[in-house]
Amino acid sequence: MHHLPSKGYYCTKKHHFDQAKEGYLNLLPAQHKKPKEPGDSRAMMRARRNFLEAGFYQPMAQALTNIIEKHRPETIPMNILDVGCGEGYYCRQIESLAKNPEDLNLHGIDIAKNAIFAAAKKQKNARFIVASSKSMPYADEYFDLLFRVYAPSDAKEMARLLKPSGLLLIVTPGPRHLWQLKEFIYTNVKEHSIDVPLPTGFSQIESQRVSFNIQPDQDQRMALLQMTPFAWRANAATQNKIQHAKDLIIETDFILTLASR
Ligand SMILES: C[S@@+](CC[C@H](N)C(=O)[O-])C[C@H]1O[C@@H](n2cnc3c(N)ncnc32)[C@H](O)[C@@H]1O
Repeated sequence: MHHLPSKGYYCTKKHHFDQAKEGYLNLLPAQHKKPKEPGDSRAMMRARRNFLEAGFYQPMAQALTNIIEKHRPETIPMNILDVGCGEGYYCRQIESLAKNPEDLNLHGIDIAKNAIFAAAKKQKNARFIVASSKSMPYADEYFDLLFRVYAPSDAKEMARLLKPSGLLLIVTPGPRHLWQLKEFIYTNVKEHSIDVPLPTGFSQIESQRVSFNIQPDQDQRMALLQMTPFAWRANAATQNKIQHAKDLIIETDFILTLASR
């Protein structure tokens, strides 16, 4: 890929890619953009952004940053990629919580253009690209660390991008994640397994469980519900109950798994 000043980028096959004025690059060729708005919708992205910006998941972002700090490589910069970064909340948190953020090269990719647009606008020091996690536009062995928060990924692609000493950090929901929200939706809420399936070829180095309680207001509960994979199960009556429940306290539960090849 070659950078031409003010004209965007050309790949080795001479395809041209524009750089948006917000600074991000869109590498999804038009024929790969079915459906029209791939990834999360604009409404889902906005709901997630408002909820995250209110700080409800901040302790998890802090734990993520602590792991990155603990595993800084000897040589700088440390190249980091957020796979399925959404609107870039975690990249921004890492920049503001890390001790020497200038030594970090932060990158994010997501298939949803509107999310990348918002991410690039908010964080000038990071680089964001619209692309699929199945085929990521970076050189082999470029990254020291890849992380993934509730997003799909491809084992082979991640292995290709990581340096031989590179690390993979996966954040998944723990057994009691959003328990009280699920109680409105399922008659019999079950704790799912604490085991995190790792992509082929990776083995675990360490794992950490981060749990804390949150008390979102009525609108924030609706935003949180929208962020979950079980939102579609909540009909209007259930949503109404969630919205108007008195003093609702909700448990969060995250598992952060660090792995290498
Ligand atoms: C549940 S959201 C998590 C977003 C962000 N990591 C967070 O926690 O705020 C999943 C994200 O993965 C993105 N996504 C879905 N399929 C993708 C793919 N094939 N390649 C890249 N991103 C994808 C969606 O657009 C969405 O932003």
